[in-house]
Amino acid sequence: MVSRDQVLEALEGVQDPELGGNVVELGMITDVRVDEGTVNIGLALTIAECPLRNQIEGDTHRRVLAMPGVDEVNVRVTAMTKKQRSELMSVARRRAREGAEPTQVSPTTRVVAVASGKGGVGKSSISVNLAAGLSAEGFRVGILDADIWGYSIPRMLGAKGRLEADADTQLIEPSEASGVKVISTGLIIEDEETALMWRGLMLGKALEQFLKQVAWGELDYLVIDMPPGTGDVQMALTRMLPQAEMVVVTTPQSAAQRVAIRVADMARRSYMPIVGVIENMTGEIFGSGGGKELADELGVPLLGSVPLDQSVVRGGDAGAPVVLDPEAGPAGRAIIQIVERLVQALPPAELETCTGRIAKLLAHLENGAA
Ligand SMILES: Nc1ncnc2c1ncn2[C@@H]1O[C@H](COP(=O)(O)OP(=O)(O)OP(=O)(O)O)[C@@H](O)[C@H]1O
Ligand SMILES: [Mg+2]
Repeated sequence: MVSRDQVLEALEGVQDPELGGNVVELGMITDVRVDEGTVNIGLALTIAECPLRNQIEGDTHRRVLAMPGVDEVNVRVTAMTKKQRSELMSVARRRAREGAEPTQVSPTTRVVAVASGKGGVGKSSISVNLAAGLSAEGFRVGILDADIWGYSIPRMLGAKGRLEADADTQLIEPSEASGVKVISTGLIIEDEETALMWRGLMLGKALEQFLKQVAWGELDYLVIDMPPGTGDVQMALTRMLPQAEMVVVTTPQSAAQRVAIRVADMARRSYMPIVGVIENMTGEIFGSGGGKELADELGVPLLGSVPLDQSVVRGGDAGAPVVLDPEAGPAGRAIIQIVERLVQALPPAELETCTGRIAKLLAHLENGAA
């Protein structure tokens, strides 16, 4: 007869390919009971309709059935509770952090990835305004235009010039506009022809370069304007910036449930916690309410609503974010409030770590004693 521990050991060979860990360490095995030659296993999946269900369930079954002395295996599949899921996410995040590749972004920098379930909802407009607003509050802020081929940040923020690398360090110096450090492919390519050349050269590498070869310096916040879609950029981002958290932009008339499924899937695949939802373009034309609905659906707070306001378009075209001119219209004032809520939800990390501070205190005492 096999023991429970032997079964668990065998199950360590069953991987969740998406989360990149085995089912035991991820806490997905809720129960193992051995009764003579029969093994009963409880398997909790992150969501009941997990696309990998058959694979994980099949692997679990096969691994255990392959053990000598086992004649029958029953796998009972359940969906995780909210608590189990958040525990699993923190294990996955910790693993990602341990395996993270070094970048030029300090581990203490708060990384805010601005994403959405669909295109054209105002991600880029919100990104530049959050960044400029945070900077106006006195924080050190960078913005990374991760929409590599659909870039719009330089125009919206009024960033100009071409990026160049420092001769000594070989690190690219970010451009600066409205007090924000800016990196975008729009600051590299000058015309269609070079665009095509770069496209072939850097497609997969651009984001990596922007994180590893840019002299970001010490930042309190790095805002990332995400490209539309739920593709590779999200995954690459978490691999390199495991501290990233997501802010979701949506419109008032969004089909909340459908958007929520897409966003939750994106968050799950990239292990990114969702900080909250921003509803954009509210008012007489599009109404309001979609943001709250989506926030409820995702179980996160609504950070605020931004009205449909001509000044957002004007500010975007002029490279002067409305958040810096509250007189320009109601959208600017709404975004100032959202910036404040974001800072509350994601306060800037302490500049010094606890161990660093204790070390300093000890050194100070030693010096004093000497
Ligand atoms: N609150 C608003 N009021 C009026 N116009 C807005 C508002 N927010 C965004 N816009 C306008 O809507 C258009 C789309 O916005 P934006 O480019 O920021 O969206 P996006 O989600 O980044 O789009 P994409 O998916 O293409 O990257 C822009 O012309 C922008 O000026
Ligand atoms: Mg955009």
